[in-house]
Amino acid sequence: MSHTNTVDVHPLAAGEASASRDDLVALLIDAVEGGASVGFIRPLGRAEVAAYWQEVEAAIAKGTRHLLVARADGRIVGAVQIDCAVKANSRHRAEVQKLLVHRRVRRRGIGRRLMQALEPLALSLGRNLLVLDLRLDDPAQQLYESLGYRRTGIVPRYAGDPDGTLVDCLFMYKELAPAG
Ligand SMILES: CC(C)(COP(=O)(O)OP(=O)(O)OC[C@H]1O[C@@H](n2cnc3c(N)ncnc32)[C@H](O)[C@@H]1OP(=O)(O)O)[C@@H](O)C(=O)NCCC(=O)NCCS
Repeated sequence: MSHTNTVDVHPLAAGEASASRDDLVALLIDAVEGGASVGFIRPLGRAEVAAYWQEVEAAIAKGTRHLLVARADGRIVGAVQIDCAVKANSRHRAEVQKLLVHRRVRRRGIGRRLMQALEPLALSLGRNLLVLDLRLDDPAQQLYESLGYRRTGIVPRYAGDPDGTLVDCLFMYKELAPAG
């Protein structure tokens, strides 16, 4: 796989996510082994990651979570999720979670394509405000800024690196269309 044109980006229903669980587990383990701050601490067991994806599948089935994947040669090489706020006063909002691209195919525009594909999906769900947080100065920050995400503030020691060290996190948002 040498070019992003050979990569297909599409949503996965709960059953499809379940059928692809092995790929999704491998993708998340690869990210954590590579040092990504995405909610897990090393050492990371397969069962723990599989249980996480099962929870995601349940949330997809419920309709609160949406999963987009990037697939190359039939295998999942990237993913991103949007988690839709459920409170009555927040139904215009969703959180972007776990943008992941496998280390072997990074810097080929797959992360950008996933983030771009997420926007029409969010709008189709009535969500025009996207929020996310990330480790301050993570490489992903450049990507989000180039896509128009705005910085809000930094919370010190908000989340742990895979080695357990607490790090500062930056909160960002993007309005896709005027509110209301
Ligand atoms: C962040 C991540 C998803 C980027 O995926 P990707 O497919 O490599 O990203 P792209 O090729 O679309 O890159 C888009 C832009 O992001 C920035 N970027 C991505 N990786 C970068 C890096 N290692 N160093 C500096 N900038 C980087 C660049 O601005 C890049 O544009 P360019 O290649 O034209 O310079 C990937 O590195 C990843 O999975 N990291 C681990 C998980 C993680 O930290 N996710 C973010 C959680 S908030």
